[in-house]
This record gives sequence, structure tokens and C-alpha cells, in this order.
Amino acid sequence: MIISELSGKTYHVIIYGCQMNKHDGERIAGMLDSLGATRVDTIEESDIVIFVTCCVREAADVRLMGQAASLKNVPLREGAPVTKRIVAIGGCIGQRDGDKLVDTLPHIDVVFGTFNLSSLPRLLEQTILTGEPMVEVLDSADEFPTSLPSQREHSWAAWLPISIGCNNFCTYCIVPHVRGREKSRPMEDVLADARAYVADGVKEITLLGQNVNSYGRDLYGEPRFAELLRQVSATGIERIRFATSHPKDLNDEVIQAFAELPNLMPALHLPVQSGSNAILKKMNRKYTREHYLDIVRKLREVRPDIALSTDIIVGFPGETEEDFQQTYDLVREVGYHQVFTFIYSPREGTPAAKMILEDDTPREVIQERFQRLVDLVQEGAFAANQPEAGKVVPVLVEGSSRRDETMLTGRSPKNLTVHAHIPEGSDIDELKGTFVDVKINKAKTWYLAGEVL
Ligand code: SAH
Ligand code: SF4
Ligand code: F3S
Repeated sequence: MIISELSGKTYHVIIYGCQMNKHDGERIAGMLDSLGATRVDTIEESDIVIFVTCCVREAADVRLMGQAASLKNVPLREGAPVTKRIVAIGGCIGQRDGDKLVDTLPHIDVVFGTFNLSSLPRLLEQTILTGEPMVEVLDSADEFPTSLPSQREHSWAAWLPISIGCNNFCTYCIVPHVRGREKSRPMEDVLADARAYVADGVKEITLLGQNVNSYGRDLYGEPRFAELLRQVSATGIERIRFATSHPKDLNDEVIQAFAELPNLMPALHLPVQSGSNAILKKMNRKYTREHYLDIVRKLREVRPDIALSTDIIVGFPGETEEDFQQTYDLVREVGYHQVFTFIYSPREGTPAAKMILEDDTPREVIQERFQRLVDLVQEGAFAANQPEAGKVVPVLVEGSSRRDETMLTGRSPKNLTVHAHIPEGSDIDELKGTFVDVKINKAKTWYLAGEVL
């Protein structure tokens, strides 16, 4: 082991935001562990705290500032090898704000961005040695974080980034500004990782990108996501999932993959954002409601059991009651298993943030529409889950239920949460990462319950 300033120190990673950040968190843990640091679960036990941040909506910003500020009041552990807890901020806020963070939060020691995860150990070492804050933010990536060691959260599941960045510039969205342009990883590299995961006993691979459907356009001149799916499927991995899809790039070949590949799970997150063509246009989404519904129809033709989920923004600048109604109707028509609903949050530097100046929809009206949608989403999720009752589903076990230690929790092929009693004489630690067949006897809004066969 290389001798490092980090050796013998404890660190705690706090992750906000999307799967990309979760994956980055695993790489951070991999790097720090390889330098002799030890991961701990609480701030109290930690010598170093690392925030991997998100700025997609204002709420995420505010939460970081509050939590980072309150760290000052948490005493160090007994015998800590530091005189002051080291605090690092990375991820999308680190990328966006850089130096500014050290000015607003004076006890921050390290700021890093989305393109230089690999610099984190060096920046931490330098700040420990010098006592000076270290800020390093780059404009683009020279390597994929996949080249770094990883400490997977679950031994049986792996995130596998196939592209980073985004070229879509939806008018509300900050992501292209903090994650840069879309850059795909060569297919051979992705496949080499997938094969290594299979050899390592991984049961489920989730391919990651801001828009997986355009995978390969920058490398091969045309999207090759469907081909990538076929090749990953051929590695023999038990379950494949992917996130996220952009409807404008989800082509017939990918739809066909759902018909052909048995290990591609029957679940798809397909963000629609709005059901109104006028709003979709203002959002720069480049598809219509009709096109979206056509994709849904085709998917269900080839895979009738497919479970759909989506993201929706309520209160985009200029959204009228009629626009909202169209979103509401679309949600009812599709019958989603899960809908992530967001109130529009203006992000500085995005085109929509300027549109809001002309918008005078009162906050209460937006809030009331949001609530109407949330109610519908719950009804819809409950209804969509009902056909599961009575079925036997293969569940990939994740561990014991947080609420009840005698119950196990896992995921069905449709990615629905399943709870069941831990069979008598079974050890939950041995069940983790294995498949059990569960006979579902109860379908609730957000989970299924049953008994292990
Ligand atoms: N690349 C993915 C994820 C983007 S961020 C995709 O295209 O789907 C995840 C979700 O956050 C988006 O789908 C959108 O619904 C929501 N979102 C993004 N920017 C937002 C904003 N300014 N206000 C409210 N919600 C936003
Ligand atoms: Fe943001 Fe749109 Fe890119 Fe998704 S596709 S990350 S919503 S700009
Ligand atoms: Fe948030 Fe950055 Fe992901 S802004 S949603 S963590 S890409």
C-alpha cells in the first residue's frame, strides 16, 4: 500500500442527486480505501466529510448549504488524527461554483468538480499538509471515472456509465452546464467492464448516461445503444437496466431489444416532463405528446408487462391550466408504476430562468396543480401494481427491511420493491444478492408483499 496522508483517517461520503453521483461516490470510496482510509457511516466518526452534490433544483442547493454549515458543531472523534474535520465539496455544485464555495463557507477545505474525481485524494493530502483550502475545477474530462478503483455499494449490483454529459439543453436544465457535452465510452471498454462484473458475481448491471439512447453518436456517427444492449445481454448477466432515456432518441431498435433480450428487465424510466406540446416545445424536448404515446404503445406491443415510470415538471414558465390538464390526462392514460414529480425550479444560466420573468402564475396555483398530480400518481401506482397480486416473481434480495428485521426486501423484474418474511433458518446475509421466488399476496401503492416459496 502506498503511504498517504489519508492512511488511517476515516471518511464519510454524503451523496445527493442522480445515479451518476452515486457511481462517483463508489469511485471516491474506491480511491480513498486504496490509500488506506476507512469509510464510516456517520459524520461523528469521520475525520473527512465529502459531499457529492446536485444542483438540478434549488432545494438541493439549499440543503447542502445548511448541512455543510452545521458540520462545524459536530465534535471530532476521540483521538482523531486531525485537529479540524476536513470538508470537501464535489459534484455538480462544486463544478458550478468552484472558488465561490470557499468564500461562502469558510470552513470548506477542498472543492472539486465533476471532471476531476481523480484529483480528490491529492487535494485532500495537500490541504492536510498545508492547512490551505484547495480548489480544482476543470472544464472537461480527460478520462472516464470508470478508470478509477471502485468500492461498490452492493457486491451484486453495478452501475456502468456508458456516456457522460448531455447535448440536449432542455431549457430548464442545468445538467449540460455542469456535466459538459456528451461523451460515449468505446463499446469494447463497456463490454470489458460488463464481463468483469459477471465474472465477479454481479447479478444486475445498470447502464448509465444522461441520455443512454444517443450512446455512441459521438464515436460512431450514429447511436448504437441497441447494439450495446445486445452485447451486454450476451455476457450472460442476469439483469440489465438502464437510465436515463430521452424519448426523442428511443428508436425502434431499442424497443425491439425489449422483445428479444430476456435479461433486459421489463421496466423503463421514460421522462415525459409535460403532456402539452406547447410546453414540450418551450422545454426544447423535440418530441410531441403523440410521439411519446406512440413509443408507449409500441413498447407494450412487444413487452406487454413493461413497467413504466417518468419525470414530470409542474409549473414550467407559462404553463396554463389547459397545459397542465394535458399532462394530467397523459399520466392517467399511460398508467405509470412510478412518477417523479417536480415543481419547476429556475436555474441561473438556463433559458427558462429568463422566461419565468414573464410568467405570473401564482405559486398557490402551481402548488395546487402539483398536489392534484401527486394524488393521481398514487392512485395510478396502486392500480398498476394490482395485477401483481397472485403472481410468483423472482426477487433479487437487497437485505432486511429497515422497518422489520424479520422481513427481506428486494426488487422484482419490474423494479418494484418486494417485502417477504425471511424463511425460517435462512441467514439474511447469505440471501443478499441472490434470487428468491416470492408469491405476491398484497399489492400496495409503493411495494408488494408476499411469501418466499
Ligand atoms: N438526464 C435525465 C435526468 C435529468 S435530471 C433526463 O433527461 O431525464 C432529472 C429530472 O429533474 C428531470 O427529468 C426533470 O424532470 C427534473 N428537472 C431538471 N431540471 C429541473 C428544474 N429546473 N426544475 C424542476 N425539475 C427539474
Ligand atoms: Fe437535462 Fe434534458 Fe439533458 Fe436530461 S436530456 S440531462 S433533462 S438537458
Ligand atoms: Fe444533479 Fe448533477 Fe445529477 S445536477 S441530477 S447530480 S448530473
